[in-house]
Amino acid sequence: MKIVTVVGARPQFIKAAAVSRAVLARSGSGLVEVLVHTGQHYDKMMSDVFFEELGINAPAHNLAIAGGGHGAMTGRMLEALERVFIDERPDWVLIYGDTNSTLAAALAASKLHIPIAHVEAGLRSFNMRMPEEVNRIVADRLSTLLLCPTEASISNLRREGVTDGVHLVGDVMYDVALHFAHAADEHHALLSQLGLRPKGFVLATCHRAETTDDPAQLAGVVDGLADIARHQPVVLPIHPRTRAKLTEFGLMDRLAGVQLIEPVSYLDMVTLEKNAAVIVTDSGGIQKEAFFYRVPCVTTRRETEWVETVDAGWNVLVGTDSKAMVAAVESHASQQRFDVQPYGDGDAANRILDLLRVHPAATRRQ
Ligand code: UD1
Ligand code: UDP
Repeated sequence: MKIVTVVGARPQFIKAAAVSRAVLARSGSGLVEVLVHTGQHYDKMMSDVFFEELGINAPAHNLAIAGGGHGAMTGRMLEALERVFIDERPDWVLIYGDTNSTLAAALAASKLHIPIAHVEAGLRSFNMRMPEEVNRIVADRLSTLLLCPTEASISNLRREGVTDGVHLVGDVMYDVALHFAHAADEHHALLSQLGLRPKGFVLATCHRAETTDDPAQLAGVVDGLADIARHQPVVLPIHPRTRAKLTEFGLMDRLAGVQLIEPVSYLDMVTLEKNAAVIVTDSGGIQKEAFFYRVPCVTTRRETEWVETVDAGWNVLVGTDSKAMVAAVESHASQQRFDVQPYGDGDAANRILDLLRVHPAATRRQ
């Protein structure tokens, strides 16, 4: 069985690491994975570093498509992926999450009648202004196998009338978190390099287009982080989109008290997350990782796809109001539960491969 896996953005390299490792563990079983990198993320610290650190095979194809508007980027990916799929003739196209790379791969595969397996199916923010919400709804609609990380994602699909091909497999990011838990402990030197004490700093990230591309929203986050930094160190590994927008909107100076660093590797990020007193973020993956490591999280959005983190008391949604951010960091007061495990048992990748192997859509084509 041949799987063509399409990735393009930072979180997808991390998610793909779980499944790619499980494929390697089954070598000799006739299972082949061909990795395609669309090129959406291309800086070393947004791409190569993850392949090196997480032991993922180099992509067989790198389409080098990045930038431009959503339409231009997705359109160029669609055209290039169609050629790859025609050449490779896979039994499955495997896609992750909700980026433009996900959408392009889903469209290209469906037009060629190649079955699609969508990892992280069924997530919803119910905010159709987010490009990710559009991408994930279309990807789900076109997928044969909907590989859901949580009960909530299964319920979302059921409400939309989708039950065929829907499976609860757990969260692949949890697989990766468990696998690399010890390796990350060896990255402790990073804290002293940055002058940080364990549990003595706030870790922040910000990259959502809905925030970064709106000067008022971005200013809210900037002022909130600057206020928090008056009382304790704040470290901000900065996404290239955010750096560009801070410069464009003349907001960089207002972050003077915040320690801005380049994006870091996965293991460095895990070290920062585990040792942070509080995490302030708009990232989907980081909300979950905060929960994995039981670090309180303040999310600068009005809604989240990862509702379990909020229900369990580890995450609060505050939007981009600076005062609300400061208040939430100072008193993250809610009942934090330790007895819930909504993201599976760390074996999502093997469940995914088992489902791909036995599904009639794939066996018919072999
Ligand atoms: C994308 C995803 C988002 C995901 C995020 C993960 C879409 C619509 N959005 O957002 O869902 O949460 O990735 O990080 O697919 N850039 C660089 N170097 C890079 C990558 C990006 O300079 O290596 C800059 C470019 O100017 C680019 C901009 O960042 O135009 C935005 O990148 P893009 O991939 O379009 O969106 P993200 O904000 O990264
Ligand atoms: N991450 C990283 N280095 C960074 C910032 C994030 O390795 O400097 C990791 C983080 O630990 C998580 C993933 O990238 O595993 C989240 O990606 P991102 O926030 O870009 O996207 P999202 O999850 O919101 O789609």
